[in-house]
Amino acid sequence: MKFVLYSDIHAQMPQLEAVQAAVDAEKADKEVVIGDLLMLGPSPSEVVDNIRSRPNTDVVVGNLDLWVTQKRWETHEPRSPHQAWMFNMAKQTREMLSEDQLDWISKLPFSITYSPEMGHDFFIFHGTPYDIGDDDALPRRLTDDEVKEKIKGVTAKIMAHGHIHGPYVREVGDQTIVCVAAVGMQWDGDPRPSYGVVEYLGNGEWRSEIKHVEFDCEEQATYNENCWIEHGDRIAGMIRTGYFWNPDHMPH
Ligand SMILES: [Fe+2]
Repeated sequence: MKFVLYSDIHAQMPQLEAVQAAVDAEKADKEVVIGDLLMLGPSPSEVVDNIRSRPNTDVVVGNLDLWVTQKRWETHEPRSPHQAWMFNMAKQTREMLSEDQLDWISKLPFSITYSPEMGHDFFIFHGTPYDIGDDDALPRRLTDDEVKEKIKGVTAKIMAHGHIHGPYVREVGDQTIVCVAAVGMQWDGDPRPSYGVVEYLGNGEWRSEIKHVEFDCEEQATYNENCWIEHGDRIAGMIRTGYFWNPDHMPH
C-alpha cells in the first residue's frame, strides 16, 4: 500500500498545485494531508475547497487550523508581537471562510492510524503524538533520546507528521519518523515545497522518502507581499529564502 503525504499548505494555492501535480503522478493508494491548511497565506477558502475536492484523501487537523476554528484570539493573550500579528491574521482568515468550511475543519481528527496489515500500523499526527504543535514539536535538532521521550507509548513502527517546515526521514531505535512539511513555505533553507511517500512492502517492511518539487517562487512571493495580510513581506521572504522570517523568534 502506497501513501503520499503533505502538510502545512498555509493558504498558498500555487505551491499546493505544484505538489499535487507531483502527487498525482505517484499514483498512490491513499493521500493524506497532515494539517495547517490555514494561516500565513492569502487563500484559505480556495485551499479548503481544493482539499475537500481531492478524491481518496484523508485530512488531519493542524494547530493553526484550530487557532482559526476555536477563535484563539478570544481565549489567549498574545505572548509576543509575533503572536499578536498571528492572532489578527487568524481572525481575518476566519472571516474569509464559510460556516460550512469552518464546520468541516472543526471536525477533522487529531491523528489517523492506517493498518495495511494486522500489527503493522502507520500513525499520523501534526505536531507530536501528544501535542498538536502549539507547545511541543519534533524538530530535527533533537537527540534520539529526546525524540524517544516525545513518542513514548507509540507502538507504531512508522509515523508521519508536519509542522516543522523542514522535511526529513529519521530512524530512532526501531521506529521511523517522517516529517513531510511543508508545502507553503519552508524554514530549513531549501525553499522548494516538499511531500512524503511511504509504502508498505509487506512482512513489516516500510519504505519512506521525502521529495521536493521545483517551484518558481517569485510571482507568489510578490502576491503575498501585496495581499490582505499585514506584513505580507514576512511571508514573501519565507517563500523566497526557505527561512523563517524572524531569527529571534524561531517557532521550534
Ligand atoms: Fe503547525
